[in-house]
Amino acid sequence: MKILGIESSCDETAAAIVEDGRVLISNVVNSQIDIHMLYGGVVPEVAARSHIEVINPVINQALSDAKLSWNDIDAIAVTYAPGLIGSLLVGTLAARTLATLKNKPLYPIHHVEAHVYANFLNVTAPEFPLLALIVSGGHSQLVLFKSHGDFELLGQTQDDAVGEAFDKVAKILGLPYPGGPSIARAALEGNPKAYALPKAKMHGAYDFSFSGLKTAVLRAVQREVGVDFTFPSHDLAARLNDTQRVDFAASFQRIAIETLVDTAERAFRDYQPKSVVIAGGVAANSELRRQLSERLPLHIDYAPIELCTDNAAMIATLGYYYSLVNDPVDPYELEVVPSLSMTKTTWA
Ligand code: KG4
Ligand code: ZN
Repeated sequence: MKILGIESSCDETAAAIVEDGRVLISNVVNSQIDIHMLYGGVVPEVAARSHIEVINPVINQALSDAKLSWNDIDAIAVTYAPGLIGSLLVGTLAARTLATLKNKPLYPIHHVEAHVYANFLNVTAPEFPLLALIVSGGHSQLVLFKSHGDFELLGQTQDDAVGEAFDKVAKILGLPYPGGPSIARAALEGNPKAYALPKAKMHGAYDFSFSGLKTAVLRAVQREVGVDFTFPSHDLAARLNDTQRVDFAASFQRIAIETLVDTAERAFRDYQPKSVVIAGGVAANSELRRQLSERLPLHIDYAPIELCTDNAAMIATLGYYYSLVNDPVDPYELEVVPSLSMTKTTWA
């Protein structure tokens, strides 16, 4: 069964074709990073307009890269939640129209759940029970999957997502958007023990918090350059020298990643899953991969970087497993849900 996946929940317009949830046939991602770089972050209106411009070419490219025609496509899977409303509307409207015109079954897919499914395209698919650390710009969660569609949220961030913390700290340090890759790059040159930063203590055993760490970086930078909290934060970065900048990046990254790995290790000990996967944009971080592999006593197969950040291959992959047990949605009825969290399964 060949499924066309469509993804447009944030700032990537993507289409991909996956066979039987295992074989990636084509994978097209149009990133808006260059556009949003001008503003230092994603501007929702600008994102939606850019999706409109490229959605059809991106879908056509996925078909032509795969050397397939519409006759070869068995179903369409599309991200309907969560994300920016204007962005979600573009992808879902394209999917609804194509499902109607081409007479294909349509499956609504949850973006965050789909991130986990990038790992099902690995050489060996992960086994259940599966512990997933989902870490992106909008989410930081630990989820235990007992089988496809049957999951339990063990813990989540109580404030900022970890990717959001990377993005905000990058701004404080004057590193370019998107902050995650910039901090990771700068950290390679820095001393991760240069600055002592705090780890948040949480009530819930598997919960996270990152806003205190971000504020601690801000205060430490102010102290380091000799100004107080009244000094405009957008002028701080210019006062840091290169050594201080890379040392802050490395020190922040160490604590942020240790926070994730401490919690994942606790959940691993308590639930003894058969496999562990990481998912979402921050799963691209090599320090996270290094620390996890060092501390967990099992082999972890990491997804390639391009399948960690937003893409439609993960949408088509989850779409396959979803279609095995769920009915398709009526294309005239499908609505977007911008703020649907992954607290409980939405499967049949
Ligand atoms: O999953 P994603 O592409 O979009 C969302 O659904 O949020 O994740 C984007 C997030 C951004 O916050 C970005 O800074 C972060 O993932 N990110 C990274 C790395 N690459 C992307 N964070 C840390 N290290 C990286 N190498
Ligand atoms: Zn994402």
